[in-house]
Amino acid sequence: MSSGTDQLETGVKAFAGLLGEFRAGTIADKSSERQALECHLGELSARWDRRFPGFPREKYPYASLRGVCRRGRRDEYIKNIIVSLLEGEAGEAESKTIVNPVCVFGRHARDLASHLERVAVIATDIEPAFNWLYDRIPGITTPDNYEFQQDDIFNPKLQATPTAVVFFGACGSMSDGAIDYAIESNCPYLICRTCCHDNIGGNTTITKRFNILNWAFRLKNFVYAGRRKRAKGDYFSPKYSKDQYPASLAARDLSNSDEFVEISRNSVDSDICRAIIDLDRFLRLVENRYNVWYKGELFAAHKNN
Ligand SMILES: C[S@@+](CC[C@H](N)C(=O)[O-])C[C@H]1O[C@@H](n2cnc3c(N)ncnc32)[C@H](O)[C@@H]1O
Repeated sequence: MSSGTDQLETGVKAFAGLLGEFRAGTIADKSSERQALECHLGELSARWDRRFPGFPREKYPYASLRGVCRRGRRDEYIKNIIVSLLEGEAGEAESKTIVNPVCVFGRHARDLASHLERVAVIATDIEPAFNWLYDRIPGITTPDNYEFQQDDIFNPKLQATPTAVVFFGACGSMSDGAIDYAIESNCPYLICRTCCHDNIGGNTTITKRFNILNWAFRLKNFVYAGRRKRAKGDYFSPKYSKDQYPASLAARDLSNSDEFVEISRNSVDSDICRAIIDLDRFLRLVENRYNVWYKGELFAAHKNN
């Protein structure tokens, strides 16, 4: 499965398969979800495993409290992929720059900078206080090739030519903002973990279910709804309203924005719903001529020249 057409076909088949499961009500039941995901994502997962061996085995669904608490394992895993890509096939490039939007404290970006001394690592976030605080933690060393810049991922002003755009959880539409930043800057590599699929398109309402994760996300969304109301540009943007979803042409043939709102509202408790939203992103990247690998909320994409 190398050509763009093959990837599009495989992506559409997986998307349509999981959409069928969603419409059939398979979601939020852990065992039927696992079977459905193995059935419809098998080909894409196998492709990922061939290209990037060592995916952290996960016995808990990502859409579970334990799954969320263990997301750091996937961040460490993709950091190793980023280092090997930037040292390896991207190695020839004279000057290389990694841009890490929505970096929060900049912890992962500092890590990358310490492993890739000849690469400039620029971490950005709309809130500079987190990076400032992290800098002042005793024992924290900030490599010389690391820098922080304040930037809004929905209206990026960063003056840089990224070799790779990377992020480790960018809530809701911020993942799409960062993906679009990579596409619009014609960036050769995009490696990332998406998160908070319940917040795409300005959504802060979730389908209520009786579990700790669901309660926690209701609280998170109470706070996020306040942020959206303040309209200071954090977390939500009119550029990524409900009508912008699905984002890919291929997914728009099979679903619509009303259905995507329902899918995002159920995504807290459903890996199927999260995968549907991510497969729309997969298709968008393929439509923009990227060679894309996808597994478990992780993306690795390389621009086809
Ligand atoms: C909750 S944290 C992300 C944590 C991540 N979910 C994880 O899994 O580790 C969200 C970050 O997004 C940043 N942020 C919010 N709106 C932003 C925007 N428009 N542009 C860039 N960063 C933004 C916040 O300042 C914060 O650092």
